[in-house]
Amino acid sequence: MEEQKVLYEKKGHIGYITLNNPRKLNALDLEVFLSLYKILDEVDNDPEIWVVILTGAGEKAFAAGADITGFKIDYNGAKKFTKAAAAAFEKMELCTKPIISAVKGFALGGGMELTLCSDIVIASEDALFALPESVIGTLPAWGIIRLYKTVGRIRAKEIMMTSRRLNAKEALGWGLVNLVVPREEVMATAEKIANDIASKAPLAIQLIKSAMNKDLGGQDVTYTKDATMSLFFTEDFAEGVDAFKNKRKPAFKGR
Ligand code: COA
Repeated sequence: MEEQKVLYEKKGHIGYITLNNPRKLNALDLEVFLSLYKILDEVDNDPEIWVVILTGAGEKAFAAGADITGFKIDYNGAKKFTKAAAAAFEKMELCTKPIISAVKGFALGGGMELTLCSDIVIASEDALFALPESVIGTLPAWGIIRLYKTVGRIRAKEIMMTSRRLNAKEALGWGLVNLVVPREEVMATAEKIANDIASKAPLAIQLIKSAMNKDLGGQDVTYTKDATMSLFFTEDFAEGVDAFKNKRKPAFKGR
């Protein structure tokens, strides 16, 4: 039987969501986004769950972004994918329960975007954050607005235009991460913070989250969703995906 790509487990008042495709560094595909949305909806409606910890299976990555090798580049496939992705990222913010991202290793592309939608981010000392979408001819649709609201325009542009990888210390300095700890302490630290939050009045915590997230998303994300759709049908995107699959440098033409 094929393994589920997203796992969900409950312990006391904490819900554990694990991205579970370590062979592809927990790359995010349609199935992952649909499952993530469904689980977050369940969390939102479960009065027993007060805090969520989101993490990635394996030692190498939290998530290395969209599943580049699994892209279905026909109109319906692209539309389904962008719709599911947009809904899942938005659900991270609309879900009233706080979400703690526990990051070990790579948080790239959609992986970093998940951390941008989280409420608390714990990173291992060797964690790396980047938005390298332009390397394959697309854009970080779910990160653009959230990133500049977090780090400011100048730094957001650098991150997105250069695809430079930020190490955990830099990410901490830029306000992308709350705490950096040795990798073996990442889960214990996330659990400590989850228990701390869970010791407070849940309804008050939920309203703090909702109030803080009131102005996120909306029209701006609709724009980037449409932009993603249009880039999916460029020659450069096909070239970027092919280059990744064949482990070579892409040759872009600007069309
Ligand atoms: N989509 C699909 N498969 C991915 C993936 C992704 N985003 N990221 C990694 N993988 C796969 C690799 O293709 C490889 O599969 P293979 O063993 O069948 O060749 C496997 O995961 C391990 O990755 P690999 O590239 O061999 O590991 P590495 O340590 O050399 O490099 C990364 C790790 C994360 C730097 C590199 O995999 C990478 O650049 N990934 C893409 C990141 C990205 O651009 N994300 C944004 C997408 S929009």
